[in-house]
Amino acid sequence: MTTKFLLGEDRIPTHWYNILGDLPTPPEPVLHPATKAPVGPDDLAPLFPMALIEQEMSPQTEIAIPEEIRGVLAKWRPSPLFRAHALEKAIGTRSHIYYKYEGVSPSGSHKPNTAVAQAYYNAKAGVKRLSTETGAGQWGSSLAFAGGLFGLAVTVYMVKISYEQKPYRRSMMHTWGAEVFPSPTNRTNAGRKILEADPKSNGSLGIAISEAVEDAATHDDTKYSLGSVLNHVCMHQTVIGLEAKEQMQLAGEYPDVVIACHGGGSNFAGIAMPFARDKLHGKQVRLVAAEPTSCPSLTKGVYAFDYGDTVGMTPIVKMHTLGHEFMPPGIHAGGLRYHGAAPLVSKLVKDGLVEAVAYPQLPCFEAAVTFARTEGIIPAPESSHAIKAAIDEARKADAEGTTRVILFNLSGHGHFDLAAYDAYFAGKLVDFEYPGEAVQKALETLPTVPA
Ligand SMILES: Cc1ncc(COP(=O)(O)O)c(C=O)c1O
Repeated sequence: MTTKFLLGEDRIPTHWYNILGDLPTPPEPVLHPATKAPVGPDDLAPLFPMALIEQEMSPQTEIAIPEEIRGVLAKWRPSPLFRAHALEKAIGTRSHIYYKYEGVSPSGSHKPNTAVAQAYYNAKAGVKRLSTETGAGQWGSSLAFAGGLFGLAVTVYMVKISYEQKPYRRSMMHTWGAEVFPSPTNRTNAGRKILEADPKSNGSLGIAISEAVEDAATHDDTKYSLGSVLNHVCMHQTVIGLEAKEQMQLAGEYPDVVIACHGGGSNFAGIAMPFARDKLHGKQVRLVAAEPTSCPSLTKGVYAFDYGDTVGMTPIVKMHTLGHEFMPPGIHAGGLRYHGAAPLVSKLVKDGLVEAVAYPQLPCFEAAVTFARTEGIIPAPESSHAIKAAIDEARKADAEGTTRVILFNLSGHGHFDLAAYDAYFAGKLVDFEYPGEAVQKALETLPTVPA
């Protein structure tokens, strides 16, 4: 009855897996926000260092991880894979449930896997400062940590409602040396425009992205860093799935289903893409992305060209979107409140290789509490969507009289989200229905692109 499957430091992957090179049909081009023509590397150069732009577009399936990055990842990687014996017993399932735990990183989630890589390539290119956005603070704190290690200043635009509700994430960012502003701010044209229309705006991830992009585009020594969605970010996260595959071998099993929560798509891509590679080569494995019903980009969005931010400053990409002006209701899984989805994940959903499910927040908190009381770890509210999906898969298998091997990604711990747990126990959390009308309105603002 082994509980933990551990790998030594020498098993930290030496290469990231880039599914772009394995896709049966090429992805849609990325379009310039002003000209709507396909972008080339030079168009992206004001925002990203060339090494990351090359990764964004690379057809190579394996890209070597520099030793300097592996050296930093070694502080917490390989992360553990657990067999959830206690959870299985509590829910009375015959299925086998495994989880890969990313909460062992310094900031408590999967986000440093890409923050370290992005900070490394920016520092190598002579960049002095990084600007970024953060929702609940997981990404901002991860970049603050990684930027500091490589001598970069970090400026974080933090969604205002989270800035006010999550003071300790702010404190973490300050401790690691970053400056943090509640977005929308008066520092950028994008922020001022939003504040003019709504001086009390709570902010959103899309607005904070607009501010961080503008900051980078208007300062020569500054580049922009994004914590999800982009191809290179998803690729940096594949260390999760690559390690998990080896750990599942140690356990002597191969998953029937691989699950992760889905906000912008990076932790899902991280665990799922190495298994998607097997699936493309004929292996039977289901890949399931779990998102909130209040912000259901994969299950209720349209697959269309749209901006990545609210104001329309970022390149236009083909993805599942609820419309860039969609303002998601305030659920506690702040990291899942994004109008779009990673183009790579979107394409795999479109092509039928990836399934998506959506859950309201109450059953997710219920699953999170069951998990905490059996496995011990208090999950991030985002990760609770994956737990809920894993429990559902086990129950479905039991109802069908079969057993399944279920692997899910526990993307982070919830130690800075305890106010949300308090609200749940006090009965103050409510479920939000799919905001159909709000989405319909936001979809009217999709950019028109040349056929
Ligand atoms: C713990 C955790 N899980 C998941 C997510 C969702 O992001 P992504 O879909 O890019 O993995 C976030 C985002 O902040 C997060 O903090």
